[in-house]
Amino acid sequence: MTDRYAVFGNPIKHSKSPQIHAAFASSTDQDLTYEAICVPEDNFEGYVSDFLSGDGRGLNITIPFKQEAWALAEVRSPRAELAGAVNTLYRDDQGRLCGDNTDGVGMVRDIMRNNGGTIEGKKVLILGAGGAVRGVLQPVLEQKPELLVIANRTASKAKELAGLVTDLGKVSGGGYDELAGQSFDLIINGTAASLQGEIPPLPENVLAQGAWCYDMMYAAEPTAFCVWATEQGAEKSIDGLGMLVEQAAESFRIWRGLDPDSKTVISDIRAAITV
Ligand code: ATR
Repeated sequence: MTDRYAVFGNPIKHSKSPQIHAAFASSTDQDLTYEAICVPEDNFEGYVSDFLSGDGRGLNITIPFKQEAWALAEVRSPRAELAGAVNTLYRDDQGRLCGDNTDGVGMVRDIMRNNGGTIEGKKVLILGAGGAVRGVLQPVLEQKPELLVIANRTASKAKELAGLVTDLGKVSGGGYDELAGQSFDLIINGTAASLQGEIPPLPENVLAQGAWCYDMMYAAEPTAFCVWATEQGAEKSIDGLGMLVEQAAESFRIWRGLDPDSKTVISDIRAAITV
């Protein structure tokens, strides 16, 4: 019987996950299917249980179900525990529902492995304090930056997130106005502002010499944040397409125990979205 995988979300029709996992399966010779399934908001648990009690082997979970998946998981990885959100579900040998979160490690791998960047010893600024940012904090701190500042329009939310990870490194949180006079080697945008073509109100000279900028969002055209970064003289500005593919690669590793080639998939999707 062919193993089944799927991504659950609502809406789901623009998901690139089926294409990404089909490419991984083909390059690693795995016999599996991967579908995108639109799940009614009031029956997430029922869909998960039906899928995984049949020939379903694993699920990716996206908006708006990541928190619900976290709550449903009987066993959570430490990174999922801290993220407060689960994007990968599967059953272990004992039949327990396990939840993981591969978003943060996906972003860190894209920065380090695909782009040759470093986080260790760097001054890192993260913009935003929503679910997307919470999901990447632990994997970023695991790389031992010199310091991590979380800045958000609503300062209290940034302080709250910083408070969750104070034992993992030198972390602080606050509003954008508190950034005046500081500069950073790596600025990561995790706000939804970029989608509306907006940039958070950052002070002059917030980029250190040779700074890199990373937008968790991606689009066919350079995102507003990447355009801003280039204008400000960033050495490199990267969008989140590689993060999308790398979070999928980490899920694939968890489910299949194999390391798929992500670079070809990133360039194929980039070519398809920019035509
Ligand atoms: P997600 O789960 O994608 O992170 P979210 O939890 O709704 O979504 O968080 C959205 C983030 O984008 C928040 O940090 C939000 O700032 P607030 O907490 O102050 O609302 C930020 N955001 C959204 N639109 C923004 C804008 N136009 N300028 C600055 N920040 C913005």
